[in-house]
Amino acid sequence: MMLTRFNLLLGFALSLTIALLVLLRVDHSQPNYQVNLGDDMTYSPAYSSFSTNSNFANGRTLQQPVSGTIARGTQVFHFEPTPQDALRAGEQLANPFEVSSAEGIASADRGATAFQTFCVACHGADGAGNGPVAKRGFPPPPSLLTGKSREMKDGQLFHILTYGQNSMPQFAAQLPPERRWDLINHIRRLQHESQPPTEIVTTTSVASPAEADTE
Ligand code: HEC
Repeated sequence: MMLTRFNLLLGFALSLTIALLVLLRVDHSQPNYQVNLGDDMTYSPAYSSFSTNSNFANGRTLQQPVSGTIARGTQVFHFEPTPQDALRAGEQLANPFEVSSAEGIASADRGATAFQTFCVACHGADGAGNGPVAKRGFPPPPSLLTGKSREMKDGQLFHILTYGQNSMPQFAAQLPPERRWDLINHIRRLQHESQPPTEIVTTTSVASPAEADTE
């Protein structure tokens, strides 16, 4: 007896569900019912970067980065404009480009263009130190092909381009770090082309011809 009544109830609930499903068609082109949870919970207020913002003591939305923050990809340059620090930069600063890689070659190509703009006046088109300015009485720069710069480390050249050296002007304001590395890669290529390092003569192989054949 109990069971039939319960079955009836279940049957009624089922029919009601089906009836509601058929009658209450959901219009998917309209937003659904929304439960309003109070002021800022349904729609949180958005601030634009430069709008005032009462949530911060300084009243700004965009906050200063924490002091000492270093942006990703930034090469830290903590050297003073002294000859000692030029040497230190040589020890500590690494060229971000692998010279013989595709990026290194592209970098040297960009450097060649920058060299035409910023350096030829004094250093000359091929870096030999015979630019038009030097020919008219400006202290002639040393050749970049045969001078000390051949032996200097890349980081030391970067220091010279950043701070200058004696009558060599500084270029930090005109050339961002990556452009300075481009120039260094161009100088390295000029040096290599003017006088490739002598090939290292390796001692003849001690392997017997039979062993060499197996390779
Ligand atoms: C106004 C002329 C002038 C310009 C422009 C100039 N240089 Fe120089 N550069 C010099 C002089 C002069 C020296 C030698 C400085 C010294 O006496 O130590 C020098 C030195 C150098 C050295 C060190 C060479 C060594 O053997 O000590 C490098 C590297 C160099 N310059 C690269 C560049 C590059 C790259 C540019 C372009 C971005 C450039 N220079 C633009 C005049 C110039």
